[in-house]
Amino acid sequence: MSEDEDSLMHGVVAPRRPELTYGEITAVGVRTLMEAVDANYSSTFFDLGSGFGRAVLQVALETLVAASVGIELDEHRNDVAQSVQRRLNNMATNVMSPEDAARVANCVRFVHGDLLHADCSLATIIYFPSLLFGEQLMDAASRKFDGLPNVRWVMSLKMLPRYRTFTLRGSVQVEMTWSQCPVYLYERLPYFPLCRNMARFDCFVS
Ligand SMILES: C[S@@+](CC[C@H](N)C(=O)[O-])C[C@H]1O[C@@H](n2cnc3c(N)ncnc32)[C@H](O)[C@@H]1O
Repeated sequence: MSEDEDSLMHGVVAPRRPELTYGEITAVGVRTLMEAVDANYSSTFFDLGSGFGRAVLQVALETLVAASVGIELDEHRNDVAQSVQRRLNNMATNVMSPEDAARVANCVRFVHGDLLHADCSLATIIYFPSLLFGEQLMDAASRKFDGLPNVRWVMSLKMLPRYRTFTLRGSVQVEMTWSQCPVYLYERLPYFPLCRNMARFDCFVS
């Protein structure tokens, strides 16, 4: 790993675009979140702003999720995530059963792109590391989440500015590389998708 990569992985660098500033959720933090939303074999986890991909890989390794997907705008970070994934796949059969190695290999996907344009239609659990995301991105992403058919949970570092098909269940303190941080847990309303259809008629939903 280059010195640059190392400082990006472990410290917070403040580039001109604050949304690209880097910090990570720790391994303990990922476990806290996965327990809070009861990730299981029917879950598909999406990290929207997956950086170097640690959380995506950890979720694939430590839970039984059907898919663990990272979407990352920064090409270099996404390239690093993909190369770690290749290394993991190559060594997996040395440390786990062939079945588990195949499951992990098939489960992980890293996509270079903008979370607003990425196909997230299969997501059931979204991690949205939004602490430094600007107003426009927060607003557009919140609208997008409301329209995603399969999402049960959105876990966001900042409160969503708008939501119609979720309810705020609360927050959990989660360990990040820079400090403990509240993560807001939004759960899909139990009567979704009925509420989504009604939301088309603005008179029903404020
Ligand atoms: C704070 S880091 C989080 C990394 C990782 N998810 C974690 O929690 O350990 C946020 C990441 O979001 C990425 N990002 C910012 N805007 C984005 C966008 N519109 N689409 C995809 N990724 C974005 C940044 O490049 C950065 O790598």
